[in-house]
Amino acid sequence: MINQIQYNFDEVIDRRNTNAEKYDALKRFYGTDDIEPFWVADMDLASPNFLVDKLIDRVKHSIFGYTEKSLELFESIEWWMKNEHNLDINKSTIGLSPSVVSTLCMTIQSFSNIGDSIVTFSPVYGPFFSSVKSHKRNLVDLPLIINNGKFQIPFEHLESILKKNDVKLLLLCNPHNPGGRVWSKDELLKIVRLCIDNNVIIFSDEIHSDIVYKPNVHTPILALNEAKNISILAHSIGKTFNTSGLKSSFFIVENEIIKNKLIHFQKLSHVDNINLIGKTAMQVLLSPEGANYKRQLVDYLRLNTSLVYKKLLINNKLKPMESDATFLVWCDFRNYGSWQEVSKMLINDAKVALSGGKFFGSSGEGWFRINCGHPRLKLLSAVDRICKTFKF
Ligand SMILES: Cc1ncc(COP(=O)(O)O)c(C=O)c1O
Repeated sequence: MINQIQYNFDEVIDRRNTNAEKYDALKRFYGTDDIEPFWVADMDLASPNFLVDKLIDRVKHSIFGYTEKSLELFESIEWWMKNEHNLDINKSTIGLSPSVVSTLCMTIQSFSNIGDSIVTFSPVYGPFFSSVKSHKRNLVDLPLIINNGKFQIPFEHLESILKKNDVKLLLLCNPHNPGGRVWSKDELLKIVRLCIDNNVIIFSDEIHSDIVYKPNVHTPILALNEAKNISILAHSIGKTFNTSGLKSSFFIVENEIIKNKLIHFQKLSHVDNINLIGKTAMQVLLSPEGANYKRQLVDYLRLNTSLVYKKLLINNKLKPMESDATFLVWCDFRNYGSWQEVSKMLINDAKVALSGGKFFGSSGEGWFRINCGHPRLKLLSAVDRICKTFKF
């Protein structure tokens, strides 16, 4: 029955004037709203109808008072991690959080002090930098190595930094945004061993882990026995079901001391619970129906990202990265001048808003990220405009 539901991701839905940052903040960020947005990492694809129906039912109840953290919600998370990620977890290891970035901030507060060092691999999702800096910690930015068009972990650099400095935390984007890399078990194990040797806690942001293209397989950090004692895994329904506006995420921590400390800091700021609509959504989405939606979505996004990659590759001065995961394609435009010059051409000639690479750290300068979570025709016609603009 479940598998008979077919989703139509080609449907174009007007999002203007719905408080959608991707549309309604265009003028503020790009100086015009006469362009098509492929920046903010949410999708222009509808969430499943069974979610909408459930939310309507709940809204019709008409009372929206304080809520419990129900056993069923934790069972849904447990089921999803087992069914979709082959990860056995106990309900007692799960915490709720309004967002992955808020879990990141709580992690920084819980496990480091002002002036302490925190390591990350760049380019990476901007709040990895801004959250560390706003907490007045010292960010140690290790640029990823590009090998055969794919990001690689700079292991030697990591080892020497961890040996020389008193690093408290390592922030890992697993899979990686913006490069779309799925880190292998061996790569993760090497990182984990270096962190164990140097008393470093790992924050593994796995928000993109449901959108992975076969034969690549995501390895949750907690699937590695050695990592269990030192890791925080953060995940969310936000990317998978396009529900970032519902502000609902969760984390999993096996080590009791780390978990209790993190929850203690959440409680200090009263952010250890999530909103009612988000809870309702999480419980209904992390289910067999949700898994069916996800499989169709991943098939759709796989073709979108690979078509975009191939179109960009035809121009041998643009250097796109092939995505193993995520609905994002990361592309090097440096052959076309400074990022400011490229930006102007993207906005004025191609009429698109892409995410500029500097958001992802200084190693991202001159690169741009294209969001492929859009109806295919619209996406490909925008990419055709980009190819035409950067023809010579
Ligand atoms: C790697 C990564 N982490 C976290 C987030 C944001 O998650 P949240 O909205 O749950 O804070 C994003 C959004 O683009 C992301 O790409």
